[in-house]
Amino acid sequence: MRILLVGSGAREHAIAKAICKHEGAELYSYMSSNNPGMRKLSKEYVLGNIVKDNEVVSWAVSKKIELAVIGPEAPLSAGVSDALWRQGIKCVGPVKEAAKLEWDKGYTRYLMKKYSIPGCPRFEIFRDVRDAQDFIEELKEVAIKPAGLTGGKGVKVTGFQLKGLEEAKDYAREVLEQNIGTLKAVVIEERLVGEEFTLQCFVDGKSLVPAPCVQDFKRAYEGDEGKNTGGMGSYNDRTTLLPFMRKEDYDNALEIMKKTVDSFRKDTGLEYKGFLYGQFMATRDGVKLIEYNSRLGDPEAINMLAILKSDFVDMLYSICDGKIRNVQFQNKATVCKYVVPKEYPDNPKAGDLIEINEDRIAKNNTEIYYASVEEREGRVYTGSSRSLALLSVADSIDEAEHNVENSTRYIHGEIRHRRDIATKEVIDKKVEFMDRLRE
Ligand code: AMP
Ligand code: GLY
Repeated sequence: MRILLVGSGAREHAIAKAICKHEGAELYSYMSSNNPGMRKLSKEYVLGNIVKDNEVVSWAVSKKIELAVIGPEAPLSAGVSDALWRQGIKCVGPVKEAAKLEWDKGYTRYLMKKYSIPGCPRFEIFRDVRDAQDFIEELKEVAIKPAGLTGGKGVKVTGFQLKGLEEAKDYAREVLEQNIGTLKAVVIEERLVGEEFTLQCFVDGKSLVPAPCVQDFKRAYEGDEGKNTGGMGSYNDRTTLLPFMRKEDYDNALEIMKKTVDSFRKDTGLEYKGFLYGQFMATRDGVKLIEYNSRLGDPEAINMLAILKSDFVDMLYSICDGKIRNVQFQNKATVCKYVVPKEYPDNPKAGDLIEINEDRIAKNNTEIYYASVEEREGRVYTGSSRSLALLSVADSIDEAEHNVENSTRYIHGEIRHRRDIATKEVIDKKVEFMDRLRE
């Protein structure tokens, strides 16, 4: 069975491992950089531009691919899934129009309002600067989101990237006057306060099957200081819930996602097939949807796939065939921490040697997932983004965290990681914070 995987980050390395567990699966990787972990698992690989649909498709056709999996969002919003289906190749990853649940923040809010999907914060969509600014004045604390494709950039929130009302109003003007989103509109919504969590689901067009919740650490530095990054690490608990969550948070988040998939089908006549990543906030007033991604999370996919008991390849086929059933996970906790160049994300230096003692890391019950690295003559060097992820599966978050932390001692170079990710101290604080918020 010939399976194409598009992408080359640590998320894709995790997807590659999960595919290769299936007997008879042959992995063909279409990568934008040479991921050494994926390269070792692949029957064949090629380096190319993953958003060029005709190039991806012609390679897939020449390799007689039966099924494709797309890792990152960029090929989805570029229509690579559409192009593969047109050639009769099954593809896990929504077509461009369905991926707009991620790339058009305005559409998702419109859909939630039109179909009365719960968990929607107060919001409006504007094309006029004055109207947008009046609404900001009314809400005071806001999240500002350009509508349409922005290359993953552009969300700014009061108290973080926006210092006060004036900065918020200026940014709304900038989004509209400089056409930051491709749809020439801006979404203004109330700023939510609480603890964020991620629910990743497998969607076959109609039905949806959930994975355990994961929480990632977006900020660059310890104590949640610094800029947002792609994610510095993540964890999940032995149950489907995170320690600060209540059962109803999970149930409500799942309900929101199910209603979204149903409403999307009603609204467009299209089926969403692929992974759907829901970013939620547990607030004083219940669970709210922050945004969707039309792919798995990086690093959240690594946590989830490490404890997947069901056969991943069977799941991929059932997503495409509209037959997704129950999916089983081990009752285990996992912790993932990214090792990054010292000055990531501002000024990551590529080309520095990273010395990795793989044996000692394995003895600490930790696995390595490669991301942005270069391999030359058997040695690994930093690339210009996150270098590699370390993941441990254990009976508790604390144990997994210790394993990963011990493993970082066997990696040397001009690199760093966040020591505080998933430590007991940090998690206890999150639980206390949510208890206080809910009082
Ligand atoms: P990005 O990943 O750059 O799109 O940023 C999205 C982040 O902005 C989310 O993960 C949240 O942390 C934050 N965010 C988005 N919408 C809201 C909101 N309504 N209230 C508070 N924070 C938000
Ligand atoms: N870790 C956040 C994301 O994958 O979007």
